[in-house]
Amino acid sequence: MRLISLLATAALILPAMAAAKPVDRYVASAGGVKLEISAPRDDIIRVRAGDGALPEDASWAVLPEVRGKRVAMTVADQGSTVELRTAQLIVLLDQKTLAITIKDLSGKTILADAAGTPIRFDNGGFRVRKAMPNDEHFFGLGDKTGPLDRRGGACTFWNTDQFGYSPATDPIYKSVPFVIGLDEAGGTYGLFMDNSWRGFMDLGKSERAAFSFGAEGGGVDYYVMAGANPKDIVQDYAYLTGPAPLTPRWALGFQQSRWSYMTQVEAQGIADRLRADKIPADVLWLDIDYQDRNRPFTVDKKAYPDLPGLVSKLDGMKMKLVVITDLHIANAPNQGYAPYDSGTAADIFMKNPDGTPFVGPVWPGPALFPDFTQTKARTWWGEQYRDFVKMGVAGFWNDMNEPAVFNSPTKTMPIDVVNIIDSPGFATRKTTQAETHNITRLLNSCATFEGVKKLAPDKRPFVMTRASYAGGQRCAATWTGDNTSSWAHLSLSTTQLVSLGLSGFSYAGADIGGFAGNAPSPELLTRWIEVGAFNPIMRDHYQRGNPSRKSGCTAPRRKRSGGAISRNATA
Ligand code: NOJ
Repeated sequence: MRLISLLATAALILPAMAAAKPVDRYVASAGGVKLEISAPRDDIIRVRAGDGALPEDASWAVLPEVRGKRVAMTVADQGSTVELRTAQLIVLLDQKTLAITIKDLSGKTILADAAGTPIRFDNGGFRVRKAMPNDEHFFGLGDKTGPLDRRGGACTFWNTDQFGYSPATDPIYKSVPFVIGLDEAGGTYGLFMDNSWRGFMDLGKSERAAFSFGAEGGGVDYYVMAGANPKDIVQDYAYLTGPAPLTPRWALGFQQSRWSYMTQVEAQGIADRLRADKIPADVLWLDIDYQDRNRPFTVDKKAYPDLPGLVSKLDGMKMKLVVITDLHIANAPNQGYAPYDSGTAADIFMKNPDGTPFVGPVWPGPALFPDFTQTKARTWWGEQYRDFVKMGVAGFWNDMNEPAVFNSPTKTMPIDVVNIIDSPGFATRKTTQAETHNITRLLNSCATFEGVKKLAPDKRPFVMTRASYAGGQRCAATWTGDNTSSWAHLSLSTTQLVSLGLSGFSYAGADIGGFAGNAPSPELLTRWIEVGAFNPIMRDHYQRGNPSRKSGCTAPRRKRSGGAISRNATA
């Protein structure tokens, strides 16, 4: 009896085992869709698919050394289903529908495609649908307003300048199509859609039992990460897209900013006052008004006659200076504006479809925009920091890099503005903002990071960016943009920063006190400073036009740089 049952079991198992052979990827086609499954690590599955052909195997987010990795998978053809196995995961692929189920080795389902059509290509874009159990919750998504648990909601990935956004506005500045699924028994996984086009994740808004994700163009390229708990998933995501490099220690201290300290005397006065009042502060920020006519990489010599002098005075007070350097370069021919002259000579600005330079209004008036998808443009950009690094400016702020364009209903440039992709790992080709809008900002801050590192190799660069894409944490810290002075935004800042932290951006802050709107009440500002003490980047910043603001309560001591937070701090 025992022998018979053993033989029967062997008869069931052996054909499958006999068919098993290791491969480093598995490609299948059905209904015009071509799909590839591979595994960069035993606990991470990558799925690529296209309408007829696989998409280009390239990424702005995933580290090249990881993207090129493929562990061996055994393949067992079981008739209607193919079973692929890594040392940690099982993938079942339905050969007819191309539906995928990912299980752990105990057979527990981690993530399965939804019943019905798992991938649909339509109008140049696609939608992938996954089953959504009743007890599943979703976290992450990077720079998003709304609640921490994203179940029941939907969001768009399209970097947008959203001055004074509300706790429900979507999208805002960054696009990080990464979500962590967590069920009530503690089962978890991560899902990263690597696609820079305008995209979405619908986490149970339009369907009761399915969630979906997709984009307006490009191919399907997503990763499913397995792990015992959300912490593992955050580490898996950092393995794929890279961790944030250590920030300089001073950037962990309290940072004082304002749009703007209009003169050098005013900026110095703020630093003196912070010290006189024993308010621990390690950094002072200069917003656009230190520049000549808001032109990036210039200094208004009337308002700031001796910027190097300010840097060294602050240095003597153990305070660092961070200055803004927006990406829009004033369209100023024959005016001796060096970034215009050298950028035009190097032919690095974005162009309209007819080949003329794209010109859009921003702070300096009509402006040109570097095409950061070209290596030569990134190198050129990095060079612009030479004088500032030489004079000892410690950090750089890349703002307005969605890119924001004034007087445009879309708040940005038209999507047919041309980019040339000329970067390692990619086929050289022409494309448009439709594909690159979300990533050229990541490249803007990475060009800053690389440029500054080259100019001061013995220092850790500090770059702050407003817009970015998945992986942008490798180059810059970030903040949540133009929030509002309100209790609702104080509360929102915590969910925003936790979501960013779960999505790679561990160095992130929110404008303490709120950027837009009326000055906060002394109590709101005080409470915000208290909460802000726990923000990875603790920066007080405030819009132009309103009078300075005051906190009215005694805040608790925070051991950031010695001293005590005093009453009546003026920001
Ligand atoms: C928009 C930024 O979000 C804000 O922080 C800054 O003060 C203004 N631009 C002016 O540079």
